[in-house]
Formats: sequence, structure tokens, C-alpha cells
Amino acid sequence: MDPVRNPYAPGAGTPPPALVGRDDIRDRAIVAIERVRQGRPTKSLLMVGLRGVGKTVLLDSIRESAEQIGIATLRMEAPEDRSLPALLSPQLRMALLKISNTEKARDYARRGLRALAGFARSLKLKYEDIEVGFDFDPEPGLADNGDLEQDLTVLLEAVGTAAREADTAVVLFIDELQYVDENQLAALITGLHRCAQRGLPVNLLGAGLPQLRGRMGKAKSYAERLFDFPEIAALPRREAALAITRPAENEGVQIDQDAVDAIVMETRGYPYFLQEWGKHAWDAAQQSPITLADVQTASATAVAALDESFFRVRFDRMTPAEKRYLRAMAALGPGPHRSGAIADCLDRDVTTLGVMRNKIIAKGMIWSPNHGETAFTVPMFDEFMRRMMPGDSWRTEHRASPSSSTVSSEPQQRSLLSQPDAKDSKPQP
Ligand SMILES: Nc1ncnc2c1ncn2[C@@H]1O[C@H](COP(=O)(O)OP(=O)(O)OP(=O)(O)O)[C@@H](O)[C@H]1O
Ligand SMILES: [Mg+2]
Repeated sequence: MDPVRNPYAPGAGTPPPALVGRDDIRDRAIVAIERVRQGRPTKSLLMVGLRGVGKTVLLDSIRESAEQIGIATLRMEAPEDRSLPALLSPQLRMALLKISNTEKARDYARRGLRALAGFARSLKLKYEDIEVGFDFDPEPGLADNGDLEQDLTVLLEAVGTAAREADTAVVLFIDELQYVDENQLAALITGLHRCAQRGLPVNLLGAGLPQLRGRMGKAKSYAERLFDFPEIAALPRREAALAITRPAENEGVQIDQDAVDAIVMETRGYPYFLQEWGKHAWDAAQQSPITLADVQTASATAVAALDESFFRVRFDRMTPAEKRYLRAMAALGPGPHRSGAIADCLDRDVTTLGVMRNKIIAKGMIWSPNHGETAFTVPMFDEFMRRMMPGDSWRTEHRASPSSSTVSSEPQQRSLLSQPDAKDSKPQP
């Protein structure tokens, strides 16, 4: 069918044609933001979930709603190589400049901009990547101690005071929060805590991989009491079906029930996969309705597209040794797996793998649901790894005496995502 009218939107942070199954969490977030504006005690929401479940689009859609009700929002994505002060500074400046347009908050906003100048100048030595325009000179003694935790707290208080005078709230929308360094996270938590204690309208709405929860707790032991961690998961069957049928119907196209069922089954309701399957099923179909046969044709191209993009970008960031670690996990199935079992698979002592495991966690590829357990952060990554590194040769690489005594049998294939025979075929082009 006409590719120009194809409504599906696989991509990172690409808004879906129908954002289904997320009304509850959206409503909850808006209630929290309204409460913050009124200075009422409110926990910050940190949405956690695997790759591709729709955290970013949810964050953006909540932000849009917040803007519509007059909230001053900041939008940041924490990359692995930039400091939090560098990310925050220009965004806080924009929020303060906006607030300074409100007559009765002007002086407070200007004080906030002075605090920002002191903050940026005093921390520039430690965080060289801070780049922000100065609108006012710093005020000696205001957020300029050179200590991130203290200065960020004073700065956020100044921002909160200005926001209160303007009858608004400042909400920090931060994506990929798990990448923020622990001491910088600690400073952020302290600043937010102080604002909450004073009833100042400053709040965080974050998103990240499941390891975020543990990182927040490690940064500040009281974090659990300040934050809620709603889990963003795959869509239940009914919603997953809607994510497929609604966009087509909006284009005047029908999809046979068994075709929808097949897509839901193949994708297991994961939003990114749903978009990919929808797109390819549309392209495969000649006319409405889209049939089961179209979906079957689409499955091969959808898997290939995922292998080339969604999965591939993660895979390419791994060193050869890390890839073998992930391949060993994949040999054991979807997981979670005991670290000992993974080590056995590689014929290594578990203690020698700890450093590497931590590195892969820091890269956001795996996480630890429970002590001593390891799981993928990318849904169905085990099946991809078996497609990418088929056969058994990965077991013997860099090993003095190859042995297959610890080999466990590969898990059964369950869906077309695992179709190209894991044992002996090459990944699809
Ligand atoms: N509720 C939903 N219904 C249908 N499609 C969705 C939904 N949420 C997200 N999507 C689609 O899923 C894909 C992934 O969304 P998004 O980038 O927000 O995920 P993410 O959780 O942020 O992933 P990552 O962890 O890789 O950043 C996008 O193509 C988006 O359009
Ligand atoms: Mg995202």
C-alpha cells in the first residue's frame, strides 16, 4: 500500500501514531505536577523500563501537557559523556528568563540568574563542559562555593522561589537518567529534597533503564522515599492490538484479526517492535485488509530492520569480550541469569568477570534485577545475539583449553524474531 501514507513510526523517541496504554501514568504525572505547582508534598516520578518500551515518547507527551497548563519545563537527555551541571545550566537559564517575563516574579528570576552565574563560574573548573550565557553578574556567596551539592541546592531553591512567585512550577524532564554520575545524582537528589521540604515548586520527571532505581538508592539512601519508580512495560494484548489497528483505521485501512494476533504474538507487545511490524505489514500488503499472509511476509523484513538498527546499535558498542559475555547469556535464554551460570558458560571463574559485568551495566546493556542476577535491558536481545553469533565458536575464543563440558543447550525458538536458525545461519542482511 502507499508507503507515503504508512502511519507507523519505529524510531528512538519518535511519537507513535497512537500512544496507547499509557493514560494512567500520564494522568498520574499531571496530578503530580499540579500538586507541585500548589506546593503540596509530591513524590517525583521516575519511569523505568527496558529499551524501546516508550519511555521517551511518554516523557515528551507529559511534557507537552505540562507546557499547555503553564508549567515551565526543562528537557534534557543525559548522555554518557556530559556532566549534569553542563546539561542543567542552559536549560535553567531559559526557564528563568521565561519566568522573568512575569512582572511580579522578575526580581526573583533575576536572583536565580545571578545564582546561575555563580554556579556556572565556580563549577567551571571541575566541570569544564559547562557552557552558559551570563545575563547578570554573580552575587558573592550565592551558589558559588564550588561544591556541586551545596550550590545546586541553592540554585534550585532560587529557581523554585521565582517559579512560586510566577504561580508556576519548574519541572525537570530528564531522559536516560541512569547515565548521570552517582555524585551528580546525589547532588540533584539533595537539591530536590530541599525544595520539597520548603514546598518550592521544583520537581523532576525522569526516565531510565531499570538500573536507575538502584543507582538512585546508592546515591542517597533516602531516595526511595522521595521518588516513585513506575515501571513502563510491554503493552498488554488488547492495547498492543490497538497500537496496530488504530493507526491503520485512521487511514481507512482494515487489518484481519488473525493478522493482528500474529503481530501481537511476534512482538510480545513491545512498542518498538509493534511499530516495526506495523510498518512492514503495511508495506507488504497490496490492499486493505492487511492479511495474515502479509504479516508473515513482513516478519522477515521487520526482523532484518530490527537487526540493522535497534539491536545493531547496541551490539556495535560492545568490545569483543563483552559480546562473548552477552552471547553466553543468550545461550542461557532470555534471563535473568545467575552470574555463576554465565561464568560457567564461558568456562571462567565468576570473580574474574565482575569488572566486565559492571562495564556492560554502565553501558546500559544489562542490569541486575536481584543480587547476583543479570538480565538484558533490550527485549529479546538473547535471540538477536544467537542470530549474530551463531554456532559455538564464541565459547572457545581466547581460551587455553576449549571444553564443552559446561555447555547448556540453546533455548527453544519461540517467534519469528528467532527464526533464522540460531545454530548455523548467518544473520539476515
Ligand atoms: N504506547 C505506545 N504505543 C505504541 N507505540 C509506542 C508507544 N510508546 C512508544 N511507542 C513507539 O515505540 C518506539 C520506542 O519508543 P521510545 O523511543 O519512547 O522508547 P524508549 O523506552 O525511550 O527506548 P530507549 O530505552 O531505547 O530510549 C517508538 O517508535 C514509539 O513510536
Ligand atoms: Mg528513550
